[in-house]
Amino acid sequence: MANAHERVEKNIGLLIILTLLVAMVGGLVQIVPLYFMPSTTQAVTGLEPYDALRLTGRDIYIREGCHVCHSQMIRPFRAETERYGHYSVAGEFVYDRPFQWGSKRTGPDLHRVGGRYSDAWHRVHLMNPRDVVPESIMPGYPWLEETPADPSDIQAKMRALRMLGTPYTDEHIENAPQALQGKTEMDAIIAYMQDLGTAIKTRR
Ligand code: HEC
Repeated sequence: MANAHERVEKNIGLLIILTLLVAMVGGLVQIVPLYFMPSTTQAVTGLEPYDALRLTGRDIYIREGCHVCHSQMIRPFRAETERYGHYSVAGEFVYDRPFQWGSKRTGPDLHRVGGRYSDAWHRVHLMNPRDVVPESIMPGYPWLEETPADPSDIQAKMRALRMLGTPYTDEHIENAPQALQGKTEMDAIIAYMQDLGTAIKTRR
């Protein structure tokens, strides 16, 4: 046995081959199981897929470029958790395609803004931020109030998300255009804001 070991150590070609073999087996053991898992990240308990109104609001958030000034990822540091609440965890973003984490913060992080203000506050703030925060440099978005939420492609969007694994039922999809009836883009984006980060809510 001692001889075999010695032979491997003294034969550089054999040593390389055996080393590669060990690394390969180690790699396969880690990688192969991933192909048989539906997802590596489990949704946190209480997390619901975006309903039709919030999903519409999320798309308006992206269209209007809110993500250019706002991140949605609270880092696990005291300074962040004191200000924003519980740090963000991966399982909160499983229905976000794409997620809005970001790192540029011209404005505050919005991941746990859900429930922090009233709908009325958001409405005034989005019409003209300076009416509630005098020193704000955030632009106003008054057209959201006048633009009806567009129901024409909501079902196609939800079907596409279902194909990717979001658990929408036929009923969700069927009722989606109805949920947008009479709603403005302002209603949609506020509904989206009010839902953000509420699956884990530990603010005092
Ligand atoms: C030019 C950068 C900029 C853009 C674009 C922007 N914001 Fe802001 N936002 C700010 C700044 C700065 C503040 C802090 C001052 C204030 O509250 O108005 C802020 C504050 C906020 C707050 C209050 C957060 C808190 O915890 O007090 C919300 C909610 C918000 N923005 C939502 C939005 C939404 C929704 C959009 C897109 C429609 C948007 N913002 C676009 C810069 C921006």
